[in-house]
Amino acid sequence: MRRFILYSRTGETAPFIGTLRNAGRLDIVYQCILMSMFASHAIRRDVEFHAFLYGRPNPPIHLTIDGGRLYDVRVDEETWRKILNETLSGAPHEGVGVKKEGIEPYAKSLDEVYVLNENGEDIERLNFKSPSFFLGDHVGLPNKFEKSLIAKGAKSVSLGKNKYLASSTIDIVNYLLDRKGV
Ligand SMILES: C[S@@+](CC[C@H](N)C(=O)[O-])C[C@H]1O[C@@H](n2cnc3c(N)ncnc32)[C@H](O)[C@@H]1O
Repeated sequence: MRRFILYSRTGETAPFIGTLRNAGRLDIVYQCILMSMFASHAIRRDVEFHAFLYGRPNPPIHLTIDGGRLYDVRVDEETWRKILNETLSGAPHEGVGVKKEGIEPYAKSLDEVYVLNENGEDIERLNFKSPSFFLGDHVGLPNKFEKSLIAKGAKSVSLGKNKYLASSTIDIVNYLLDRKGV
């Protein structure tokens, strides 16, 4: 099992009109879902994706995508604009859930926690069993939250000194863990 957990500072927390981008950069959430959950013609059944949305009007919202249960989805942006909008309206979609929860209590429930940060330890030097990776949006993880994860035993892990898009980091981690057979 792999988990990716995105901190979205501005992702809107109610049904929205218009584009994902204009809904508090929910386009970043969509891109991260894509890179977490899909291989070519396949859903990654052993992956969960979580986004914590801190945008208006009703933060925080915990969005979960469970690869083991995900059903009736495509990879295009319009499919996910509809799914996210419907889920935020309270309509069910198999494998997709929302609840009112902040990221701190959720983080406490996890073992084997990593924080993706370019200044962390080289990912190639670590061994993984059932890892959970926290990452930031276009602004990055709030410092205070990142420090609290590290203080509770999380390891900071790096993909190198270049800064990547949030979604790219997920793609790279999936690729490296696939190669390691995790
Ligand atoms: C677009 S980056 C954030 C950029 C933001 N401007 C900053 O300075 O942190 C989004 C997230 O991807 C992850 N990330 C980006 N590059 C990385 C790297 N080289 N190694 C590990 N994680 C990385 C971090 O978790 C970061 O918060």
